[in-house]
Amino acid sequence: MAYRTVSAHGMNNSRRPGFSWQKEDLLKHAAAARALVSWHNLVSHIPYGSDFGLDASLEQPVTLEEFLRSCKRRRIDEGAQCSSGKGAVRGSIASYFFVAVDDEAQPEIARVFAEVLGLVVGGPLTFPCFHSSCPFRTTTLQFAVGDAGSGSPMHFHQDAVNLLLLGKKRWWLRPPSMSAMSRLHPLDAVNCSVEEVEQCYSGACVLEQEAGDVVYIPDMWGHAVLNLENHTVCAATEFA
Ligand SMILES: [Fe+2]
Repeated sequence: MAYRTVSAHGMNNSRRPGFSWQKEDLLKHAAAARALVSWHNLVSHIPYGSDFGLDASLEQPVTLEEFLRSCKRRRIDEGAQCSSGKGAVRGSIASYFFVAVDDEAQPEIARVFAEVLGLVVGGPLTFPCFHSSCPFRTTTLQFAVGDAGSGSPMHFHQDAVNLLLLGKKRWWLRPPSMSAMSRLHPLDAVNCSVEEVEQCYSGACVLEQEAGDVVYIPDMWGHAVLNLENHTVCAATEFA
């Protein structure tokens, strides 16, 4: 069953007319941003994988420019596309450029977030679906870009919102009583045992997010994400 009750559609949040989030603009404004990315062609990349016990040697520091200019390594199967949502990405290995954004660690992306989205760490939530008197402040900011087949395994944290800037995502959401922390990449679920998949995905609400949609993930709700189109770009923030 598909749910769309936690998303708000068609949000155009740009404060900088003309900025597109396409590769050209990202290269112009944030080419030197760096993330740890797995280029290994046997495992699907998981954001912060080494924090979850995965082999740290698989992750390498990569600039956003290197990431965006390298398609070959990220699409082992050149035919990989899953915009149909029918699992056509089987066999592809996708890496994911996923970073926490602040002035110190990612000054270029932090500047873009501030100028284009009005988002700064500790600042007010500026997503248009939040009322101007909204009392919440951002606690973390995240930026991510990946091709079809990249994504994040089931995990949970405090309240968060995710604004899709380009592309398309599929989400699996489970209430706190069913939340789990997992290293099971959504793309790899088809290769796993029924028990493993059951632990992470059974009973999940499934929804698809399109560019301009904001998804709200409530506190402690489990969620996993799969990017369905190449160059899927998002901004996310946890808040309190
Ligand atoms: Fe998350």
